[in-house]
Amino acid sequence: DQIEKGGYDHFMLKEIHEQPKAIIDTYRGRMLPDEGIIRMSGIDNHMNKFLNAERIIIVACGTSWHAGLVGEYLIEDKARIPVEVEYASEFRYRNPIITSKDVVIAISQSGETADTLAAIKLAKSKGAFVFGICNVVGSSIARETDAGAYTHAGPEIGVASTKAFTTQITVLTLIALKLASKKGEISKSELRTFLQKMQLIPKKVEDLLKIDEKVKEIAAVYKDAPNCLYLGRGFNFPVALEGALKLKEISYIHAEGYPAAEMKHGPIALIDENMPIFVIATNKGHYEKVVSNIQEIKSRAGKIIAIVTEGDTQVKDIADHVIEIPETEEALTPLLTTIPFQLLSYHIAVMLNKNVDQPRNLAKSVTVE
Ligand code: AGP
Repeated sequence: DQIEKGGYDHFMLKEIHEQPKAIIDTYRGRMLPDEGIIRMSGIDNHMNKFLNAERIIIVACGTSWHAGLVGEYLIEDKARIPVEVEYASEFRYRNPIITSKDVVIAISQSGETADTLAAIKLAKSKGAFVFGICNVVGSSIARETDAGAYTHAGPEIGVASTKAFTTQITVLTLIALKLASKKGEISKSELRTFLQKMQLIPKKVEDLLKIDEKVKEIAAVYKDAPNCLYLGRGFNFPVALEGALKLKEISYIHAEGYPAAEMKHGPIALIDENMPIFVIATNKGHYEKVVSNIQEIKSRAGKIIAIVTEGDTQVKDIADHVIEIPETEEALTPLLTTIPFQLLSYHIAVMLNKNVDQPRNLAKSVTVE
């Protein structure tokens, strides 16, 4: 067991630290940044299905569903194809409208999630083309789908998904860019620049992992909080959801993720001096809006832990704690902003003496409906 954990105390921590390599393994051979080329046989061989699709429906559960949401933002923003993201368990039971003009993307680390598998079978029976994004080679979902792309994260043992999430986002980014370039939505030189920035992500994740001690200090301050709120906008809204899921599943602290601007429609009522609020404030597009959300929290005495871009000064002046992430393309920030949240949940769970790798009531893959 100790050998398998590679010197780390838990599989989760090992898997968090494996992310730079996992991301490289996932894009290796699929992108040639300097040439501005993306090669993915699962997409290339079925390009017409994607280009003629009236919409793409992404189905998944849990963390994979959160990656799917990032995928929606990416594909709509870059490739301009309408995308819907569905919980597999809802999709399969609500008599959805699916036709042969739909492309369904099913995302699953294990490839064995019963609801996702059932959603795939339903979509296929209605004539849709189904593409899988799985980590486990030869899994049921990998076999059931018409085509697909593996994430090459390596085995994920910790019940709390970490490297599966970032590698799923890596694949979805490549898909979005491939479709965007094929449709002429981005130029060759834009694609080249984007891929060159993507190539820098693993090193940036590696640098970011060095903030472990700082995150540990923040974890020690908030480990006894009964509730936490996670806020993000745009590409980072799903990261807020994922941050909250990570915390609740391994530390058993109640946490909610919200789009930052929705705060004023309800959650703001929860804010007082006992409420830690984790805010992702890296957005370039809506930066001022997020800053004003942070000010609203401050004026209600909420504790603010902000994720900002290196060099930020405005949020630094207001927040109780800041964690800096390296500068990158906005669409790539989820690959960075999610790292501090993973570390934070890990340290809080360890400090609370919880079973990090096998939290109560949870299974690594949910093979029951
Ligand atoms: C994530 O930390 C969870 N343990 C869980 O939500 C998981 O992502 C979900 O069950 C889906 O699993 P899959 O990716 O193997 O289909």
